Amino acid sequence: MEKSNLDSLKNLMVRRGVIIPSYQAYGELSGFYDYGPVGLNIKKRIERLWREHFINRLNNLEIEGAIIGPQAIFEASGHLGNFTDPISTCQKCGHSHRADKLLEEFFSKKGDRASMDRVSRMSVEEMEAAIKSNNVRCESCGLPLQKVDTFNLMLGTRIGPLNSVQGYLRPETAQGIFLNFKNVFRSYGLKLPVGIGQIGKAFRNEISPRNLLLRMREFSQMELEYFFDPGEGGLKINNKAVGEGEVSGKINFLTRDEQLDNADFEFREREMRDLLKEGNVPNSLFAYLLLREAEFLLALGFKSGDFRFRQMLTEELPHYSKGNVDLEVRIGDKFEEVAGNAYRTDFDLRNHQAATKTDMSVLSGEKKVLPHVVELSFGLDRLFYGLLYSSLYKDEARGWEVMMLSGSVSPYDFALFPLQKDEPLVSEAVAIFDSLTAKGYSVYYSASGSIGKRYARADEIGITKAITVDFETLSDRKVTVREITDAKQVRLGISELAG
Ligand code: GAP
Repeated sequence: MEKSNLDSLKNLMVRRGVIIPSYQAYGELSGFYDYGPVGLNIKKRIERLWREHFINRLNNLEIEGAIIGPQAIFEASGHLGNFTDPISTCQKCGHSHRADKLLEEFFSKKGDRASMDRVSRMSVEEMEAAIKSNNVRCESCGLPLQKVDTFNLMLGTRIGPLNSVQGYLRPETAQGIFLNFKNVFRSYGLKLPVGIGQIGKAFRNEISPRNLLLRMREFSQMELEYFFDPGEGGLKINNKAVGEGEVSGKINFLTRDEQLDNADFEFREREMRDLLKEGNVPNSLFAYLLLREAEFLLALGFKSGDFRFRQMLTEELPHYSKGNVDLEVRIGDKFEEVAGNAYRTDFDLRNHQAATKTDMSVLSGEKKVLPHVVELSFGLDRLFYGLLYSSLYKDEARGWEVMMLSGSVSPYDFALFPLQKDEPLVSEAVAIFDSLTAKGYSVYYSASGSIGKRYARADEIGITKAITVDFETLSDRKVTVREITDAKQVRLGISELAG
């Protein structure tokens, strides 16, 4: 089987209604996508696996916070001051461009990899100079662009009947976790270290949303904030000491120096203990959690060569970070960031403490400490996109595309097809449907179209097992079960289906 390209994936996602541009009937509003039934099922299964890996197995807790917050929160968090992107607006037609991405594309088209990599380290003034000296033009009307400014990504809203309170839609789920930390810590009688996670929507007024789910204005995050006492030497997670053994394991890693030395270098397989000793990973908790991320990606079905960890360059660090390692997956011919891992120190708790004049510290043994935080911030939509990209293959023998998802993220447990639309096959299939769904399985039932077309549809959306009810079923109480991986068919007793 041959790997499908990104255009085939995009085509399949839209054709099969896996995702749907939001508000399509009113003309598209860029940066917003709805999930159709298949997409939503896969997305929910990714969430379930994240919970299993980052909440349940690590003995962490999960909350669900409010989406809209008052201005003061985002002043304290630094988002209203610092959460900006460079913007270049055409003076003729008014079309806005994200200046850094525009320059990167410009240099990439010219094959100038070194200049392309320099863009992320440029100031706004340097970007303006580069745009002018290279005569970079407006994507919409073609006029040369002139100015570069900064643009704040926060999406605002007015709250209350008189619209008197300025509010904002959260740009990350993290702030809700910081603000709830002390309450959860106290009410659950917790001890440091402990993680609190959240899955939910985040909003950013992106200048140029693009590439389907890669840069959206409304998207979902799965975030874990892991709180620990920075003065505590022997770290414990889930009551087990994190020793050398817990931070050893191999991962694909790209260091800061390797990026500066060779722009085309992808990654090297590295031992985590060494990365930690060299200071490429800020602390052992961070190292431990990166290894858990690698396990999570393998459990989702990514192949190890399809993802890497990239140490962020100093110039790229977010305003709150003392060290970031991005998790990137292959999407098309690029590695794209799907999770930002950051050592946020006590930046957020300290700022909220100062802004609200409330004590945010907690007891660690006998002493009061303001915990430090390691954050794992997954973009759910990007992870979903990357997973579908890495799973889609063209099977020449079958004559169609096959989404090779693993059972844990397949949109349905079973596809179920009566061979023909007639009775008594339909009644038999419906009885099997009822018995499987009563046991908690999800079943995609279809009686229309040829059986070949129905297999093709099930393969394209990644259903791992397809059951066909035929005339023999009525006498031998057996059905045909077809596996997505090799399309092989076996006869199984109906009672053996749900083991
Ligand atoms: N709390 C930290 C934080 O939000 P981030 O690197 O800005 O960090 C985390 O975002 C993840 O959220 C990214 O790695 C990416 O997967 C996802 N993300 C960020 N902006 C996005 C956007 N406009 N569209 C889709 N996903 C986005």
